[in-house]
Amino acid sequence: MARRNAAPAGAARRTKPNAVESSAAAAPQRRELTIRPVRRGDLEAVIAIDAQVTGIEKRDYWRSIYRRYGESAAPGAQFLVAESAGEVVGFAIGEVRDWEFGAPPCGWVFAIDVRPDARLAGIGTRLLETICAGFRRAGVRKVRTMLASDNTLILSFFRSQGMMAGRFIPLEMDLEG
Ligand SMILES: CC(C)(COP(=O)(O)OP(=O)(O)OC[C@H]1O[C@@H](n2cnc3c(N)ncnc32)[C@H](O)[C@@H]1OP(=O)(O)O)[C@@H](O)C(=O)NCCC(=O)NCCS
Repeated sequence: MARRNAAPAGAARRTKPNAVESSAAAAPQRRELTIRPVRRGDLEAVIAIDAQVTGIEKRDYWRSIYRRYGESAAPGAQFLVAESAGEVVGFAIGEVRDWEFGAPPCGWVFAIDVRPDARLAGIGTRLLETICAGFRRAGVRKVRTMLASDNTLILSFFRSQGMMAGRFIPLEMDLEG
Protein backbone atom coordinates (compact mmCIF):
# COMPACT_ATOMS: atom_id res chain seq x y z
CA MET A 1 0.00 0.00 0.00
CA ALA A 2 2.69 2.46 1.00
CA ARG A 3 4.38 1.98 -2.37
CA ARG A 4 1.34 3.20 -4.22
CA ASN A 5 0.51 6.09 -1.97
CA ALA A 6 3.84 7.84 -2.08
CA ALA A 7 3.60 9.67 -5.39
CA PRO A 8 1.31 12.61 -6.05
CA ALA A 9 -1.21 12.31 -8.88
CA GLY A 10 0.48 12.82 -12.21
CA ALA A 11 3.99 12.09 -10.94
CA ALA A 12 6.22 9.68 -12.87
CA ARG A 13 5.73 6.89 -10.35
CA ARG A 14 6.23 3.58 -12.15
CA THR A 15 9.48 1.76 -12.14
CA LYS A 16 8.26 -1.16 -14.23
CA PRO A 17 7.97 -0.64 -18.00
CA ASN A 18 4.75 1.12 -18.93
CA ALA A 19 2.88 0.81 -22.20
CA VAL A 20 4.94 3.26 -24.19
CA GLU A 21 8.25 1.72 -23.27
CA SER A 22 7.37 -1.89 -23.93
CA SER A 23 8.50 -3.96 -26.89
CA ALA A 24 6.60 -4.59 -30.11
CA ALA A 25 6.39 -8.29 -29.25
CA ALA A 26 4.13 -7.55 -26.28
CA ALA A 27 0.32 -7.44 -26.26
CA PRO A 28 -1.20 -4.77 -28.56
CA GLN A 29 -1.83 -2.29 -25.76
CA ARG A 30 1.83 -2.56 -24.73
CA ARG A 31 3.29 -1.90 -28.19
CA GLU A 32 2.85 1.83 -28.35
CA LEU A 33 0.58 4.22 -26.59
CA THR A 34 -0.40 7.72 -27.59
CA ILE A 35 -2.42 10.00 -25.37
CA ARG A 36 -3.99 12.75 -27.46
CA PRO A 37 -7.06 15.00 -27.67
CA VAL A 38 -10.19 13.27 -28.93
CA ARG A 39 -11.21 13.52 -32.58
CA ARG A 40 -14.68 13.11 -34.06
CA GLY A 41 -13.68 9.72 -35.49
CA ASP A 42 -12.95 8.43 -31.95
CA LEU A 43 -16.49 8.90 -30.74
CA GLU A 44 -17.80 5.46 -31.73
CA ALA A 45 -14.96 3.79 -29.82
CA VAL A 46 -15.57 5.97 -26.77
CA ILE A 47 -19.29 5.14 -26.86
CA ALA A 48 -18.47 1.43 -27.19
CA ILE A 49 -15.99 1.42 -24.28
CA ASP A 50 -18.44 3.24 -22.04
CA ALA A 51 -21.26 0.87 -23.04
CA GLN A 52 -19.03 -2.13 -22.34
CA VAL A 53 -18.03 -0.77 -18.93
CA THR A 54 -21.41 0.56 -17.75
CA GLY A 55 -23.81 -1.65 -19.72
CA ILE A 56 -25.66 1.41 -21.05
CA GLU A 57 -25.16 2.96 -24.48
CA LYS A 58 -25.45 6.76 -24.18
CA ARG A 59 -24.99 8.00 -27.73
CA ASP A 60 -26.65 11.41 -27.28
CA TYR A 61 -24.78 12.05 -24.04
CA TRP A 62 -21.41 11.34 -25.66
CA ARG A 63 -22.20 13.52 -28.66
CA SER A 64 -22.94 16.43 -26.33
CA ILE A 65 -19.80 15.74 -24.28
CA TYR A 66 -17.81 15.73 -27.51
CA ARG A 67 -19.28 19.08 -28.57
CA ARG A 68 -18.49 20.57 -25.17
CA TYR A 69 -15.07 19.08 -24.44
CA GLY A 70 -13.83 18.02 -27.86
CA GLU A 71 -14.80 20.42 -30.61
CA SER A 72 -15.19 23.64 -28.72
CA ALA A 73 -13.40 22.95 -25.50
CA ALA A 74 -13.05 25.92 -23.18
CA PRO A 75 -9.57 26.64 -21.79
CA GLY A 76 -8.81 24.08 -19.08
CA ALA A 77 -11.21 21.47 -20.52
CA GLN A 78 -9.74 18.18 -21.70
CA PHE A 79 -11.15 15.14 -23.50
CA LEU A 80 -8.22 12.76 -24.05
CA VAL A 81 -8.06 9.34 -25.66
CA ALA A 82 -5.42 6.62 -25.39
CA GLU A 83 -4.60 5.09 -28.76
CA SER A 84 -2.70 1.86 -29.27
CA ALA A 85 -2.15 0.04 -32.58
CA GLY A 86 -4.63 2.41 -34.23
CA GLU A 87 -7.41 1.70 -31.73
CA VAL A 88 -8.87 3.84 -28.98
CA VAL A 89 -8.36 1.83 -25.79
CA GLY A 90 -9.32 4.40 -23.17
CA PHE A 91 -10.30 7.96 -22.47
CA ALA A 92 -10.36 10.58 -19.74
CA ILE A 93 -12.30 13.82 -19.39
CA GLY A 94 -11.79 16.70 -17.04
CA GLU A 95 -11.79 20.44 -16.69
CA VAL A 96 -10.70 23.27 -14.48
CA ARG A 97 -13.59 24.64 -12.46
CA ASP A 98 -13.37 28.00 -10.72
CA TRP A 99 -14.74 28.55 -7.24
CA GLU A 100 -17.34 25.80 -7.38
CA PHE A 101 -18.40 24.73 -3.88
CA GLY A 102 -16.35 27.72 -2.70
CA ALA A 103 -13.08 26.05 -3.74
CA PRO A 104 -10.26 27.93 -5.48
CA PRO A 105 -9.78 26.85 -9.13
CA CYS A 106 -8.86 23.16 -9.38
CA GLY A 107 -8.92 20.36 -11.93
CA TRP A 108 -11.79 17.87 -11.88
CA VAL A 109 -11.51 14.43 -13.47
CA PHE A 110 -15.05 13.29 -14.13
CA ALA A 111 -14.52 10.29 -16.40
CA ILE A 112 -11.76 7.76 -16.92
CA ASP A 113 -12.25 4.41 -18.61
CA VAL A 114 -9.89 1.84 -20.10
CA ARG A 115 -11.17 -0.95 -22.33
CA PRO A 116 -11.30 -4.11 -20.19
CA ASP A 117 -8.90 -6.06 -22.42
CA ALA A 118 -6.31 -3.25 -22.21
CA ARG A 119 -6.24 -2.78 -18.44
CA LEU A 120 -3.35 -3.22 -16.02
CA ALA A 121 -0.85 -2.03 -18.60
CA GLY A 122 -0.43 1.51 -17.28
CA ILE A 123 -2.93 3.16 -19.65
CA GLY A 124 -5.11 4.60 -16.88
CA THR A 125 -1.97 5.97 -15.24
CA ARG A 126 -0.85 7.61 -18.48
CA LEU A 127 -4.29 9.14 -19.03
CA LEU A 128 -4.33 10.59 -15.52
CA GLU A 129 -0.74 11.84 -15.79
CA THR A 130 -1.58 13.61 -19.05
CA ILE A 131 -4.75 15.21 -17.76
CA CYS A 132 -2.88 16.36 -14.63
CA ALA A 133 -0.15 17.86 -16.83
CA GLY A 134 -2.87 19.81 -18.64
CA PHE A 135 -4.24 21.06 -15.33
CA ARG A 136 -0.78 22.19 -14.28
CA ARG A 137 -0.39 24.05 -17.57
CA ALA A 138 -3.74 25.71 -16.88
CA GLY A 139 -2.27 26.95 -13.59
CA VAL A 140 -4.00 24.78 -11.00
CA ARG A 141 -2.24 22.75 -8.33
CA LYS A 142 -5.05 20.51 -7.09
CA VAL A 143 -7.00 17.73 -8.78
CA ARG A 144 -10.28 16.28 -7.54
CA THR A 145 -12.65 13.55 -8.57
CA MET A 146 -15.77 11.81 -7.31
CA LEU A 147 -16.58 8.12 -7.34
CA ALA A 148 -19.28 5.72 -6.25
CA SER A 149 -18.44 4.43 -2.78
CA ASP A 150 -18.89 0.80 -3.91
CA ASN A 151 -16.62 1.14 -6.97
CA THR A 152 -13.55 -0.43 -5.41
CA LEU A 153 -11.75 -0.72 -8.75
CA ILE A 154 -11.74 2.99 -9.48
CA LEU A 155 -10.99 3.71 -5.80
CA SER A 156 -7.95 1.39 -5.93
CA PHE A 157 -6.80 3.10 -9.10
CA PHE A 158 -7.09 6.66 -7.77
CA ARG A 159 -5.49 5.67 -4.46
CA SER A 160 -2.59 4.12 -6.38
CA GLN A 161 -2.07 7.49 -8.04
CA GLY A 162 -1.80 9.27 -4.71
CA MET A 163 -5.34 10.63 -4.43
CA MET A 164 -6.83 10.69 -0.93
CA ALA A 165 -10.15 11.59 0.67
CA GLY A 166 -10.58 15.35 0.43
CA ARG A 167 -12.28 17.95 2.57
CA PHE A 168 -15.56 17.95 0.58
CA ILE A 169 -18.31 15.41 1.16
CA PRO A 170 -21.17 14.66 -1.22
CA LEU A 171 -24.76 15.08 -0.02
CA GLU A 172 -27.91 13.95 -1.81
CA MET A 173 -31.65 13.38 -1.34
CA ASP A 174 -34.54 12.00 -3.34
CA LEU A 175 -36.97 14.52 -4.82
CA GLU A 176 -40.61 13.53 -4.43
CA GLY A 177 -43.26 13.94 -7.13
C1 LIG B 1 -9.69 2.22 -13.18
C2 LIG B 1 -9.11 2.04 -14.59
C3 LIG B 1 -9.24 3.37 -15.35
C4 LIG B 1 -7.64 1.66 -14.42
O1 LIG B 1 -7.06 1.58 -15.71
P1 LIG B 1 -5.73 0.70 -15.97
O2 LIG B 1 -5.20 1.08 -17.28
O3 LIG B 1 -6.01 -0.72 -15.71
O4 LIG B 1 -4.81 1.28 -14.78
P2 LIG B 1 -3.24 1.09 -14.58
O5 LIG B 1 -2.76 -0.13 -15.32
O6 LIG B 1 -2.58 2.37 -14.88
O7 LIG B 1 -3.19 0.76 -13.03
C5 LIG B 1 -2.60 1.65 -12.10
C6 LIG B 1 -2.82 1.12 -10.72
O8 LIG B 1 -4.23 1.12 -10.40
C7 LIG B 1 -4.48 0.03 -9.49
N1 LIG B 1 -5.40 -0.90 -10.12
C8 LIG B 1 -5.76 -0.92 -11.43
N2 LIG B 1 -6.63 -1.94 -11.64
C9 LIG B 1 -6.77 -2.58 -10.46
C10 LIG B 1 -7.52 -3.70 -10.05
N3 LIG B 1 -8.30 -4.41 -10.92
N4 LIG B 1 -7.48 -4.08 -8.75
C11 LIG B 1 -6.72 -3.39 -7.86
N5 LIG B 1 -5.96 -2.30 -8.20
C12 LIG B 1 -6.00 -1.90 -9.48
C13 LIG B 1 -3.15 -0.66 -9.24
O9 LIG B 1 -2.56 -0.11 -8.09
C14 LIG B 1 -2.36 -0.30 -10.48
O10 LIG B 1 -0.97 -0.30 -10.26
P3 LIG B 1 -0.11 -1.67 -10.44
O11 LIG B 1 -0.47 -2.19 -11.81
O12 LIG B 1 1.29 -1.22 -10.31
O13 LIG B 1 -0.59 -2.59 -9.35
C15 LIG B 1 -9.82 0.89 -15.34
O14 LIG B 1 -9.81 -0.28 -14.54
C16 LIG B 1 -11.25 1.21 -15.67
O15 LIG B 1 -11.55 1.82 -16.70
N6 LIG B 1 -12.17 0.82 -14.79
C17 LIG B 1 -13.56 1.19 -14.94
C18 LIG B 1 -13.64 2.66 -14.58
C19 LIG B 1 -14.99 3.09 -14.19
O16 LIG B 1 -15.66 2.47 -13.36
N7 LIG B 1 -15.38 4.20 -14.77
C20 LIG B 1 -16.65 4.79 -14.44
C21 LIG B 1 -16.49 5.96 -13.48
S1 LIG B 1 -15.56 7.31 -14.16
